[in-house]
Amino acid sequence: MDGGSFVFHDLAPGEESFRDAVLAGLSGDPKALPCKFFYDARGSALFEEICRVPEYYLTRTEIAILEAHAGDIAAHIGPHARVIELGSGASRKVRILLGALDAPAAYVPVDISREHLRGAAAQLAEDFPDLPVIAVCADYTKPFVLPQLPGRAGKRVGFFPGSTIGNFEPEGVVSFLSHCAALLGRGGEILIGADLKKDPAVLTAAYNDRAGANAAFNLNLLERINRELDGDLDVAQFRHVAIYNEAKGRMELYVESLTEQSARIAGARFHFARDELIHTENSYKYAIPEFRALAARAGFRAVDAWTDRGELFSVQYFRRE
Ligand code: TRP
Repeated sequence: MDGGSFVFHDLAPGEESFRDAVLAGLSGDPKALPCKFFYDARGSALFEEICRVPEYYLTRTEIAILEAHAGDIAAHIGPHARVIELGSGASRKVRILLGALDAPAAYVPVDISREHLRGAAAQLAEDFPDLPVIAVCADYTKPFVLPQLPGRAGKRVGFFPGSTIGNFEPEGVVSFLSHCAALLGRGGEILIGADLKKDPAVLTAAYNDRAGANAAFNLNLLERINRELDGDLDVAQFRHVAIYNEAKGRMELYVESLTEQSARIAGARFHFARDELIHTENSYKYAIPEFRALAARAGFRAVDAWTDRGELFSVQYFRRE
């Protein structure tokens, strides 16, 4: 399909080597693998499957909140906004927002995945022919500078959905939002999707769905190691573990070795004890006041917040002080 026209800025993000990260992570004690490597092509497809299982309420609830309150959100944002999405992926959720906004001046998807970004930007530009689309290939977890944006000086509005914010450590949230504050400039605003604290049974079910989508997604990290790093991990001898750490307010994701075993990865040998856990991700859950306190430390004042009836998920709006 022919894409619409868009501008592409390649800030040439330094690709952190998967190999270096895996070798370092499996050499540590405890062992850990960085969660940003979940999303290869297979991992992205498996994550889509997670979003469809009944237990994983996050994605569908966030979309429902955006749809129910798009008018309200658009009223806060006002006309001629320039919307900057950090980690834009397929640019799906932002369509709800863009469709409700009054004459948005630009959409700026920022993503590290170059070809994915190109495709998503082309499609969006085609579907919103009057909207200038300025795609920026960059690693948004590190500070970067935006190119010149078109249109008159309307406000900059950040968009960071998906509860990805929950994958940072709380201190990391403060530094990430501080960098967002710098990027958005004076008067900048940001819309963030954050998962809420709730009954731990609901949380553990979301990350341990009966169809096994979460397990397949988590274990795909080991498959990816085998595929890309000449590994011989016996993936069947590992299992997916997801537990709620109540004291820390976070879901903890691991893969656990079912037996004592060893494997060769990129020429190096690794040993796994029986029941040994390899940490793959944390997913923090916040009560609204807790999250607001973190945002305040980065100079963002809470303007409004929307939740679903069940108070499972939140979409929160902040303005730079
Ligand atoms: N960022 C997602 C989340 O926190 C990722 C995720 C969903 C995930 N299910 C998982 C990560 C299972 C590891 C294992 O909800």
